[in-house]
Amino acid sequence: MKKLIFANWKCNKTAAEAREWIIEVGPQLNEEDPFKVIVCAPFVYLNEIAQMVSDAGYAMDVGAQDVSVKEKGAYTGEVSAAMLESIGVKWVLIGHSERRSNFGDTNVTVAEKVVQCRKNSLEPVVLIRSEEDVIPEHVSYYAWEPVSAIGTGKSIDPVEANATVVALKGGNTPMHGMYGGSVDMGNIAAYFAQEAIEGAVIGSASLDPHKFIQLMNAIRES
Ligand code: PGA
Repeated sequence: MKKLIFANWKCNKTAAEAREWIIEVGPQLNEEDPFKVIVCAPFVYLNEIAQMVSDAGYAMDVGAQDVSVKEKGAYTGEVSAAMLESIGVKWVLIGHSERRSNFGDTNVTVAEKVVQCRKNSLEPVVLIRSEEDVIPEHVSYYAWEPVSAIGTGKSIDPVEANATVVALKGGNTPMHGMYGGSVDMGNIAAYFAQEAIEGAVIGSASLDPHKFIQLMNAIRES
C-alpha cells in the first residue's frame, strides 16, 4: 500500500490561498509516487477543490476535517456525509483532538460519524490521542496523534511512534495505522521508514505549498 499523507489545513487559508496550494502542489504529484496525498481543506473550499483536482486530473484525493453526526434535516450549520460524497470528497478525518477538546467530540459521536461515512462511501480516518479514544468497529484507518506532539514541534521518536501505532492496533491487523504530530520535511522519511506507520496527518507543515512540495521530495529521495 502507498503511504498516505493527509494535509490537514485546519482552520486556515483564504479561498485564493486554497486555490494556490492546489495549483502549486497538484502538478507535482504523479501516480508513481510512493505516497498518496489527501488534501483536507475547510468545508467551504471542498467543492471547488474537488472540481479543480478532477478537471486537472491531479493524483490527489480530497478529504474533509469533520462530518455531521446527522444524516439530514433541521440541523442548522451542519454538513452531512451525503453532501460531502456528492461533491467528490473521499475521506473524512474524525475525532481530531482539537474537535474533542474544543467542540465536544466523544467516542460516541466519533462512532456516529463513522456510521454516516459508511452510509455514504466516505472513508473515515479515526484520530486518537491514546488508548482511551475508541476506534469503532469496521474502521480501516486510524492515526495516533499524541496531544504533546500536535502543533508543538515536539514530534515523537519514529521507532517509539511505530511501537505505539502497533500497540493501538491490538489484534486488528487489517487496520492501517498512521501517525500525526509535528511531522515535517525533516522527519517524514524517518516515519515512513517504519513498517507500521502507513501514513501521516500533517498540520502546520502542510500549509505552505512550497514547503509541502519539499516534504514530498524528502520522501522521494529517501
Ligand atoms: P501538526 O498537526 O502537524 O501541526 O502537529 C497535526 C494534526 O493535528 O493533525
